[in-house]
Amino acid sequence: MSISYKDIEENAQRELKETNSIQELEILRVKYLGRKGIIAQEISKIPTLAFSERSIAGQQLNELKRKLNDLIEARRPLLIEKTPQQKHSRIDITLPGVERPLGSQHPIINTMNQICGIFVSLGFQLYEGPEVETEYHNFQALNIALEHPSRDAFDTFYLAQESRYNIFNDKLENNSHINISNKLLLRSHTSPGQIRVMQQIQPPVAAVVPGRVYRPDATDASHSCMFHQVEGFLVDSDIRFSDLKGILESFAKQMFGPQIKMRFRPHYFPFTEPSAEVDISCIICGSAKTDKTPDKPCSVCKGKGWLEILGCGMIHPNVFKNVGYDHKKYTGFAFGMGVERIAMLKHGIDDIRIFFENDLKFLKQF
Ligand code: PHE
Repeated sequence: MSISYKDIEENAQRELKETNSIQELEILRVKYLGRKGIIAQEISKIPTLAFSERSIAGQQLNELKRKLNDLIEARRPLLIEKTPQQKHSRIDITLPGVERPLGSQHPIINTMNQICGIFVSLGFQLYEGPEVETEYHNFQALNIALEHPSRDAFDTFYLAQESRYNIFNDKLENNSHINISNKLLLRSHTSPGQIRVMQQIQPPVAAVVPGRVYRPDATDASHSCMFHQVEGFLVDSDIRFSDLKGILESFAKQMFGPQIKMRFRPHYFPFTEPSAEVDISCIICGSAKTDKTPDKPCSVCKGKGWLEILGCGMIHPNVFKNVGYDHKKYTGFAFGMGVERIAMLKHGIDDIRIFFENDLKFLKQF
């Protein structure tokens, strides 16, 4: 057995001396060391050997493999010298370069950065919260009642496991925090980010919290079970609704252009009071509802002249109580907007699904 290994080695050494180019060397390498080469064939025969011979055969073959590899690699530089057109220089500058394809930022990340950038320039700080949240942060702390439909198991992605930590990130003792729900879920909005920041920082505070959110919506042109939001809020003494209006107007003008108009429509959110939804004048037809010819309504605003972009309001005193802020001393506002919606409006995209299809024809445009 060992004799035949010796023969292999001698043959290889002889053949190696006869190689005259890198190509011939490669052929030899594959013949001996390739996936189906002579050494591999010998290794595959090991199980057919007598039990006592197997381990020694394995060792010898490994040793031979290493040796042949060293011999081949030692010869390689000599052959490179010999290859005629490379005698003087090893670099052939006439060869085409190696092209490295350049990527670009995804339009959603790009829009999210743009939104956050505007608020950061207005003095807001950037925070992130976890996508797997407790029911406490996602609902309870935000004054969302147990009967609220979004707390229904079919309206939110619950996880089978419960959190082992209480709201202050301490490991749960048995039976403590009996009223706090430690059920885990995929956050359905970025508003729990408000709670997490307020639990850590005393007023004055101004923060934006961007990130992914999840809802079990059936997918269509305007719905996705995962999308992105940017949450923002500000708390200090004597913060009023007019501050909210000023900040949001400044944001909308920087995001969509100085000609943009805004309107606030009364709305309801459990964690803000009063609450509003905010529309901007249609960025395509310029909110020209009155000028519109009824037979040709604008395809983006459907002739309404207005586009909804976010929800907002003055933070509910119960939220302040839940995070330990003095609700008699402080007031504040909060807002939350969908990033996909804003990216769609900005770029004239009419189907949300295209953001998540990884189609390079689409992504390369950004
Ligand atoms: N969290 C709300 C939503 O997802 C938006 C919102 C945020 C409303 C902050 C008011 C204040 O619909």
